Amino acid sequence: MAKIRAAITGVQGYVPDYVLTNQELETMVDTNDEWIQSRTGIVERRILKGENQGTSVIGAEAVKGLLEKTGTDPLEIDMIICATVTPDMPFPATANIVADMVGAKNSFGYDLSAACSGFLYGLATGASFIESGAAKKVIVIGADKMSSIIDYTDRTTCIIFGDGGGAVLLEPTEEEVGIMDSILKSDGSGAPYLHMKAGGSRKPATPETVAAREHYAYQEGSTVFKFAVTNMADVAAEVMDRNNLTGDDIAWLVPHQANKRIIDATARRMDVGDDKVMLNIQRYGNTTAGTLPLCLWDYESQLKKGDNIILAAFGGGFTWGATWLKWAYDPK
Ligand SMILES: CC(C)(COP(=O)(O)OP(=O)(O)OC[C@H]1O[C@@H](n2cnc3c(N)ncnc32)[C@H](O)[C@@H]1OP(=O)(O)O)[C@@H](O)C(=O)NCCC(=O)NCCS
Repeated sequence: MAKIRAAITGVQGYVPDYVLTNQELETMVDTNDEWIQSRTGIVERRILKGENQGTSVIGAEAVKGLLEKTGTDPLEIDMIICATVTPDMPFPATANIVADMVGAKNSFGYDLSAACSGFLYGLATGASFIESGAAKKVIVIGADKMSSIIDYTDRTTCIIFGDGGGAVLLEPTEEEVGIMDSILKSDGSGAPYLHMKAGGSRKPATPETVAAREHYAYQEGSTVFKFAVTNMADVAAEVMDRNNLTGDDIAWLVPHQANKRIIDATARRMDVGDDKVMLNIQRYGNTTAGTLPLCLWDYESQLKKGDNIILAAFGGGFTWGATWLKWAYDPK
């Protein structure tokens, strides 16, 4: 019997309308456009404004567009995985809220917390359900409303992050396409360098935690940078080595959009030219779990069936990983 693989059969992104430019950030904190662009590559990012607008809004908009473009009835969806660190609420899962918003009444689902690597973890999880035969149509969302946990008085973090995300549809295939291999890693000793101090069970919200600004993302940028630059490049090289792939075999590198300098280092390590590297950090900043599906969405019209694509990410946890996939369809 032919091996069943999980293929991405559609991708859709969503970013909110509001554009937060470097120039506007200059009016909020002591920073400047030149520093932000040269240190990160970011020019602007999107912000989800308005009352009661959670990550589910981003996820649901992406999923609605995905169902429409792939001609999929929401009732056919078996499972929804939502990778996010900014769920609407600690519970219920944002995946459940999205399922309700899009009418996916026959699906089950859950959230997955792996920060910037969340979409890769979600892809591997969704693919396992497809490969085992337990599910036929799985949606994997990577989405974050980072503005809900960013301290806009902290210049070291507020310039980096933005809101947005995307979703892919996974379906079984017997062809030589789809998710071919993944290497996923984590190291909890990295927690002190990138985390949110309060609001969890260890330190529930109190007036003191709010006053101490402990409900915002905390990052020791240069330490995270050091780990990100080595680990993301190493794991991308590892997945290529173990599948006998060279830079010449790769059509596209899809790197997590955290910092242009980390992206460049990964591309160099893989021996992949700039023209093969998906890049949209300049427009969206770091949308955490959202960056990889947003890249695939932006570049979808350039992807051809059989293209070898390496996705690579690094994030809080620490978590990191790389996935080799063969694109499953030509531009429509
Ligand atoms: C956050 C980050 C952009 C900072 O860049 P950096 O080159 O490491 O900068 P440093 O933190 O060493 O700071 C250098 C100087 O710039 C200053 N600086 C920091 N943020 C600034 C800003 N927004 N504007 C102007 N100056 C700033 C610092 O205060 C420091 O000044 P000092 O030398 O006088 O102390 C970078 O560390 C980074 O991208 N880290 C990883 C992000 C990441 O991958 N996140 C995880 C995955 S989600």
